[in-house]
Amino acid sequence: MNKIKNAINNLNECKAKKKELKSHPIKIYIEPTTDCNLNCIYCIPKQYRKVEEMDLKVFHSIKEQLFDSCCEVNLFLRGEPTLSKNLTEMMNICSEYSFITKIFSNMSYENDELMKKFVEKGVWLNVSFDGIEVNEKVRRGSNIALITRNIQLLMKYQKHIQNNKFHIRLAVVVSKLNVKNLINIILWAEKMGFKEIMFGCLDAAHFGNKNALTRSEAYYFQKAIEKCDEIEMRVSTPSHIGGKALKKTHNWNDFILPIDEFFPHFIEDCNPDVKKKFCPYPWLQTVFMANGDVVSCCQRKIKLGNIKPDMNFIESIWNNNNYINLRSKKKFHKCTDSTGVQCGIIKYSIWGGESRLNNIPIDTNIL
Ligand SMILES: C[S@@+](CC[C@H](N)C(=O)[O-])C[C@H]1O[C@@H](n2cnc3c(N)ncnc32)[C@H](O)[C@@H]1O
Ligand code: SF4
Repeated sequence: MNKIKNAINNLNECKAKKKELKSHPIKIYIEPTTDCNLNCIYCIPKQYRKVEEMDLKVFHSIKEQLFDSCCEVNLFLRGEPTLSKNLTEMMNICSEYSFITKIFSNMSYENDELMKKFVEKGVWLNVSFDGIEVNEKVRRGSNIALITRNIQLLMKYQKHIQNNKFHIRLAVVVSKLNVKNLINIILWAEKMGFKEIMFGCLDAAHFGNKNALTRSEAYYFQKAIEKCDEIEMRVSTPSHIGGKALKKTHNWNDFILPIDEFFPHFIEDCNPDVKKKFCPYPWLQTVFMANGDVVSCCQRKIKLGNIKPDMNFIESIWNNNNYINLRSKKKFHKCTDSTGVQCGIIKYSIWGGESRLNNIPIDTNIL
């Protein structure tokens, strides 16, 4: 199935709120491992982490069933994906397809071979980093010298290899601890050679974290966007800060980067709509956790099934009762599964809001 045709069909089925879908997911998450080398203050505490690895047979089965029709494969969820013994094989396989392969990494490890592989295989690499001032305090166990060295190495390999499908973006978790440093972080990113930066909000819904942002801090994001516009750094932010809507949440359309040749923007501009209380994720994407559990988004609250290597995903899970129940919801601000577990993503939309469903491409010539 052609991936762009599938994406257009999928967005139309989402807009029409179809419950049973003919289209396949546009976006897939595959969690290689839950293991991690750090103990970030806002992530799952180390003592509660159960280390699990994705079964390669499951990975191959997902590949056979879904890779031809999807636009993006994310090789991460919880955990540090580079600790998985199977990551290289997964990247090798993904590089045979035209979709975007995204990885998030903390970069606090020494593995020069892997750095070269990221560039050669054309990965979209998100470097998680919260700023010189706080990174080692917040991302406990991280090492700024090592992160800097790794970024320099990546830039050096890219200069040599010149793979336009390799893209590197700085991913910052913004909280009260670093919100006043956003301009410094942007300038650091520019100095290191980044052309794109993504500001995410600290998700404090589950922890009642005192470092969560409040509406007065929306100001710093507007200033950060102005700075990025000025220096032509691509930027994206959440749609709301402490409940306050930002006027501008990205500058994707303002200038072109080499990665745009491979990246249909509808992959990143169809996200939970806080105002309309609508979440498009049950239509657009599916998430495979390391233990085979299938959930609808990174919050992992709504379990939809468990994938086995010999299972037909489309027949057994994609249109099962759990997915149909989820797609039948009128509003998603109290999105719960059959056991009453609730997902809070709609309350703080960590991405740039929904701007795609009234702007669905009509032909396949849209890259
Ligand atoms: C869960 S991590 C997994 C990948 C990798 N270990 C890393 O840190 O990049 C994916 C992204 O989520 C971010 N993250 C983790 N906990 C978060 C939280 N409570 N709120 C917002 N972002 C968070 C991380 O900083 C990272 O950019
Ligand atoms: S490095 Fe990533 S997975 Fe590990 S603790 Fe930090 S945010 Fe969580």
